[in-house]
Amino acid sequence: MLRRLTPDQPESFAFTNANMAWAQEQIKKYPEGRQASAIIPLLWRAQEQEGWLSKPAIEGIADMLGMAYIRALEVATFYFMFQLKPVGSVAHIQICGTLSCMLCGSEDLIAVCQEEINEKPYLPSADGKLSWEEVECLGACTNAPMAQVGKDYYEDLTADTLRGLLKDFAAGNVPKPGPQNGRFAAEPKGGLTSLKDKTGEAHNGSVALAVSIGDSVKRIDGSEVPLWVAPVPVGQQAAVVEKPTPKAKAKPAPAVAYSDDDKPELLSAPNGEADDLKMIKGIGPKLENELNGAGVYHFSQIASWTEKEVAWADENLVSFKGRISRDNWVSQAKELAT
Ligand code: FES
Repeated sequence: MLRRLTPDQPESFAFTNANMAWAQEQIKKYPEGRQASAIIPLLWRAQEQEGWLSKPAIEGIADMLGMAYIRALEVATFYFMFQLKPVGSVAHIQICGTLSCMLCGSEDLIAVCQEEINEKPYLPSADGKLSWEEVECLGACTNAPMAQVGKDYYEDLTADTLRGLLKDFAAGNVPKPGPQNGRFAAEPKGGLTSLKDKTGEAHNGSVALAVSIGDSVKRIDGSEVPLWVAPVPVGQQAAVVEKPTPKAKAKPAPAVAYSDDDKPELLSAPNGEADDLKMIKGIGPKLENELNGAGVYHFSQIASWTEKEVAWADENLVSFKGRISRDNWVSQAKELAT
């Protein structure tokens, strides 16, 4: 399926302050030079905040992670979980159309979506509140047919139960996720044949967590329960678990010993036109700005760095430590300089 950015894009994107603080914490989880690994959680949080992923959001996150825009676009367009155009303002219904669900009636569910929401997938309902799409197996085949709505699964659906769910969502309610036919979880439809004592819980684990968090279709602005709060058992109050204080780690010694005398020559302004440093693999717009700000404008400057100067620059020049040597900027710059 062709996945393209929508031509109607907003002017800009900004994380809320709380989401930005959260994003910075995520980035810190990765070792120096590997900040790009935070791309999926950050894109996902942008989608949780806005409901879909705009080009300014993708590019803004690429800047935060020092990635070339094309790398971030590759991720956003590859994974179907990212919505590249606005979806229903209340809920986007993802109907599984793969084998088990199809055999158990997913085509009826799609017909309901076409009737109640829009003939075509991805397009919003007349009131803009709902949209739908068909997706591949979501791994809940035992409870086929099923749909994902927001963060949660609605299982054992029929055309009628789905119709009821859509009405509920459109009315601003969030119906209880999980099996909709009275099953507790994925036990046989005829009832349990073994392990019959369910210990009295009202919901299975997934549903209990979904009910306790209550954010199935909620836009996340970062002010929600922090990640280190334990899941709330049904009917009980949330107990806050102290986030463990990470042990201070000794700073690893640089691979190449260097001193302040190994600072490479930096310019106060470019000699003529500055080179496009983004042509070096590993340098995105953010790193190029950092390099220019520090006085590095030309391939020839980087090409001339000695091993010790690379070690100095890796530690002092850019925010993503270790990247200069890891991506071998010097040999790339030598080729580009010639
Ligand atoms: S086939 Fe629908 S969840 Fe697997």
